[in-house]
Amino acid sequence: MAARVAIPQWLQPEAAALLRDAGLDVADGGRGVDDDPLPRAGTLALVEGCAGVLTQLADRVDDAFLDAAGPGLRVVANVAVGHDNVDVGACSRRGVVVTNTPGVLTDATADLALALILMATRRLGDAERRVRTGEPWRWGMGRNLGTGLQGRTLGIVGLGQIGAATARRARALGMHIAYAGRRDADPAVVRELGARRLPLHDLLAACDVVSLHCPLTPETRHLVDARALARMRPDAFLVNTARGPVVDEAALADALRAGALAGAALDVYEDEPRIHPGLAGRDDVVLLPHVGSATRETRRAMALLAARNAAAVIAGERPLTPVG
Ligand code: GLV
Repeated sequence: MAARVAIPQWLQPEAAALLRDAGLDVADGGRGVDDDPLPRAGTLALVEGCAGVLTQLADRVDDAFLDAAGPGLRVVANVAVGHDNVDVGACSRRGVVVTNTPGVLTDATADLALALILMATRRLGDAERRVRTGEPWRWGMGRNLGTGLQGRTLGIVGLGQIGAATARRARALGMHIAYAGRRDADPAVVRELGARRLPLHDLLAACDVVSLHCPLTPETRHLVDARALARMRPDAFLVNTARGPVVDEAALADALRAGALAGAALDVYEDEPRIHPGLAGRDDVVLLPHVGSATRETRRAMALLAARNAAAVIAGERPLTPVG
């Protein structure tokens, strides 16, 4: 009997086609592209007896999930670079390989980070909203003024692939780069960017724009809390395309209300899709619905990479992009 791979949430059909071409059966969650995620009970029923699962942010892979799948599970192929929805330790203890999809979404996410930097500093969301609501407008020397980026400093928190790609784009705009991170960044990248490393709290105090690119881990949960926000300058901006819980949203709302920073641009949230009420009504906050990797090309590449990873592990080969 062919091994089975579950796809609980809607996924680009090329992924299932690749798995079938590899001789695998596919257990599809039956979701449409705009449907809500398959409820937990449905997911747990679907994964029973599967050798692999292509998981997404909506799928929490914990002991209950692994129990439901049973001892035949070989691989959890997460369709994302972040894998905070997967208990990697629990998987390892059961010999289940975990993979993610790094690389293929670097450019799309860095493009989005740059877009958010521009939206925040030039106040574009607010400007667009006012035009749409029919507010009378006219060109005026003192109207709609934002902040120019040339000669300013971008602070990257987490100079990995996406952080570096964002920094390259900012360099093209004439920005200087500083970075903070737990690990040493690739020296060649640091040299190329002319980036200086700073302790996080010095970086927050020194930068005009701070862009978050670290993974969500127990250490980075609420990394940007009230104390960190208090370090930022009143004319500085915070951009988050990483994971929502890296920022303490209640503290961010308080800091913005107090004028401790000039604005924020967020693609990710602590409790998606809920938006903190202290952020939702503010004109100095840009809010996007977690679209960092949302291009047709990137999402297709992510789905295919996850499917390749699952097929490889089930065939007894090395996965392309294992976690850890
Ligand atoms: C999306 O948010 C990802 O981590 O790939």
